[in-house]
Amino acid sequence: MLSSLVIAAILLLTRLTDAWGTLGHETVAWIAQSYVSSDTKDAVQTILDSKASDYMANVSTWADSFRYSDGAAWSAPLHYIDANDSPPESCSVDFNRDCGDAGCSVSAIVNYTSILLDDESKASLKLDAMRFIIHFVGDLHQPLHDEALDVGGNTINVTYDGDDTNLHHIWDTEIVEQLADGQDAEAFAKNLTAAIKAGGYGWDASTWLTGASLNDTKATAMTWASEANAYVCSDVLAAGVDAVEEGDLSGTYYTAHYDVARIQLARAGYRLGAWLNLIYTGQTGA
Ligand SMILES: *[C@@H]1O[C@H](CO)[C@@H](O)[C@H](O)[C@H]1NC(C)=O
Ligand SMILES: *[C@@H]1O[C@H](CO)[C@@H](O)[C@H](O)[C@H]1NC(C)=O
Ligand SMILES: *[C@@H]1O[C@H](CO)[C@@H](O)[C@H](O)[C@H]1NC(C)=O
Ligand SMILES: *[C@@H]1O[C@H](CO)[C@@H](O)[C@H](O)[C@H]1NC(C)=O
Ligand SMILES: *[C@@H]1O[C@H](CO)[C@@H](O)[C@H](O)[C@H]1NC(C)=O
Ligand SMILES: [Zn+2]
Repeated sequence: MLSSLVIAAILLLTRLTDAWGTLGHETVAWIAQSYVSSDTKDAVQTILDSKASDYMANVSTWADSFRYSDGAAWSAPLHYIDANDSPPESCSVDFNRDCGDAGCSVSAIVNYTSILLDDESKASLKLDAMRFIIHFVGDLHQPLHDEALDVGGNTINVTYDGDDTNLHHIWDTEIVEQLADGQDAEAFAKNLTAAIKAGGYGWDASTWLTGASLNDTKATAMTWASEANAYVCSDVLAAGVDAVEEGDLSGTYYTAHYDVARIQLARAGYRLGAWLNLIYTGQTGA
């Protein structure tokens, strides 16, 4: 009895933590917090009704628990865009082919951005829109949230640090945790923000907002989705599905590909801050 309860709890936790795990989403939010202007910060804090130091990080995983609440299953497809491409030979995202009638991360970013831009939107709708934007800009940057193959890697069984898990899960969680090396989200975000500012790891953040515009929110989100999806071919499944089903991926696979998780977390946070700045000040603030 007890053990079945424990198993049920573990299964629930596993479901609740899919999509960049808590550490990933909170790290993205903390990075964004360091890029928002004071006017943007005021606007976001008003909508979230929070003056807490972690005002964005605190709501960054709300969408993952919301999707499993009563009557909220409609929001599940908004966490990803199912690119029907053929990795590792060919990667691509095509909005008309991949978004689906129920919507996707790209259409959700379009919709919730327009709700935030509309002065007439009700406060409760803006609250949800803000929590969704903070979460979905993060999800969009996880390469396997831009991939249909094997349910975004969810049905590809892998071993990581001795544990049985799946490919999607390690990109959400285990790789991020290994990269953070025990730092909490706030400290990890400070570390990544310092690297963004210093041009560490060969990063050039001045290119990260190329084409970002509220004039065409769909094209902007598609640019970010396509960039993330390309990593499915170049890194995540570079050697094919069979290759990741063998061995323990916390070793050479991690070493070969962790830089993708690192730059995608940094880009997501940087872009989220800039996107909110665009919404509330008309400037990226970069
Ligand atoms: C968000 O903040 C509230 C109020 O301090 C707290 O009760 C809650 O646990 C926090 N949630 C997360 C996910 O950090
Ligand atoms: C936009 O979001 C609102 C609130 O979640 C939802 O009711 C509406 O159907 C969405 N519209 C589109 C076009 O996705
Ligand atoms: C993956 O593992 C699950 C059990 O955890 C099993 O049911 C499933 O058949 C496995 N899938 C493959 C493709 O081996
Ligand atoms: C950032 O974290 C890495 C470990 O992931 C560490 O090697 C590095 O010293 C940290 N840098 C700063 C500035 O904290
Ligand atoms: C967006 O549209 C406005 C008004 O048409 C224009 O002035 C501005 O240059 C456009 N911005 C971008 C980044 O395309
Ligand atoms: Zn998600």
